[in-house]
Amino acid sequence: MKSSQADRLVSIAKEYLWPAFARDASFFGRPVSMVSSGEGRHIIDIFGNRLLDPNSCGGAVPLGFNLPELMEAVSAQMKKIMNTTPSLFVPTEPLPLLAEKIASISPGNLKYTIFGSNGTDANDAAIKIARHYWKIMGKGSKYKVIHRYPGDYHGMSLSTASASGHNFRRAPFEPLMAGFIAFHSPYCYRCPYRMTYPECDLYCAEEFRQVIEFEDPSTIACFIGESTNTGLGIVPPPPGYMKKIRQLCDEYEILMITDEVITGFGKTGFWFECEKEGFVPDMITMGKGISWGCGPLAGTHVKDDIAQVFTGPNVLQHGYTFGGMGYLAAAGLAGIEYVEKHNLLARATEIGEIMSRELGAIKEKSKVIGDVRVNGVLAGVEFVKDKTTKERFADRAAVADLVVKVGIDNGVLLPCSTWYGDIIMLMVQLTMTDEELSQVFTAIERAAAEVEKKFL
Ligand SMILES: Cc1ncc(COP(=O)(O)O)c(C=O)c1O
Repeated sequence: MKSSQADRLVSIAKEYLWPAFARDASFFGRPVSMVSSGEGRHIIDIFGNRLLDPNSCGGAVPLGFNLPELMEAVSAQMKKIMNTTPSLFVPTEPLPLLAEKIASISPGNLKYTIFGSNGTDANDAAIKIARHYWKIMGKGSKYKVIHRYPGDYHGMSLSTASASGHNFRRAPFEPLMAGFIAFHSPYCYRCPYRMTYPECDLYCAEEFRQVIEFEDPSTIACFIGESTNTGLGIVPPPPGYMKKIRQLCDEYEILMITDEVITGFGKTGFWFECEKEGFVPDMITMGKGISWGCGPLAGTHVKDDIAQVFTGPNVLQHGYTFGGMGYLAAAGLAGIEYVEKHNLLARATEIGEIMSRELGAIKEKSKVIGDVRVNGVLAGVEFVKDKTTKERFADRAAVADLVVKVGIDNGVLLPCSTWYGDIIMLMVQLTMTDEELSQVFTAIERAAAEVEKKFL
């Protein structure tokens, strides 16, 4: 695009557009503040910058941009019917096929999927299902939702903000909804109890029991949480933790919802992370990768015996005008087929091994990388001022700006969040090549060197 056209677009955007998380006009001065096109794992912005995106748009585009197989599936279905069906909630052909496929790749007796448009909806629906379920079962006093903090983000609506541990996305909207109770999420690098695994004997899960006992199990409908706490900076659970949460949910008759909006669809080397962790939740919530980033599709995937009670007068009063668009379900099916054909679950595991090795080596050499956490294609690289005390940098924004700048200088869009310290959050595509991975590692190594030079 000509630079005069790009400048005109920026001035129009400054005047009329309220971009997500960034009303600040200086936002438009940054590379990739406005995107022109995508190519494989690269984004090309309106200024002509071509950058590798190892965050795959927050994990929403796990097969990269413009994969021909996905584009063909979308356009074939769009040609049949491009919008929602005439009778609003009647599905088009690909939707039941995707529901069947999801049931076949999820563990245990998880079977039915109710579709929505984004991860927020999927979690909101799961909470509504849990509350309604207990009413149908004659236990209507069970309404509370137990969730975790910090991190463990579940969405933007008021109910999901109430169920999330991102305090900065809660405070401006208070008062939040009643009946949402939080306990600590595990974070072994900075254990909230100053304990060490395995001597801690998973005290972090034990806190869940204490909260249940204090709140009274006869008032609790569900637990909601991720396994790997992506919202905290890619923090996988300690071994056995999620199984223990499952046991406690069983013991106290609490429905267990796991949010796999990021971790689902292959990112941990399994279709769903719960399988890797060895437990079966009552509901899995899905978004992002369910349409492989082709558009707003999400799902709440529910155990057979739970879904079965929502019949007759107990119909679930829930559904969205655009929840479950056929062309996105077609993309969902095509993406799953692509992953199976190209053995990409195994590749996700292999990418995880490469990232553990290479990022681990960078951490050893660096004075400012305190922790590296890897789970399949997900990785968190945490910067600290002091590796012994784990003290964070005082000016997190300045460190993050430098990391992003060095990344861009090296052709990589390094996603450095400042929520809980400076943490690079990698969610690389299942299709990322070894060469592209090397480029990411080089950018991180150089960014760490610059941070060391400027801030130590
Ligand atoms: C773990 C998790 N759950 C839920 C959501 C909300 O998804 P959406 O933005 O599609 O509403 C997100 C979004 O980043 C997420 O990371």
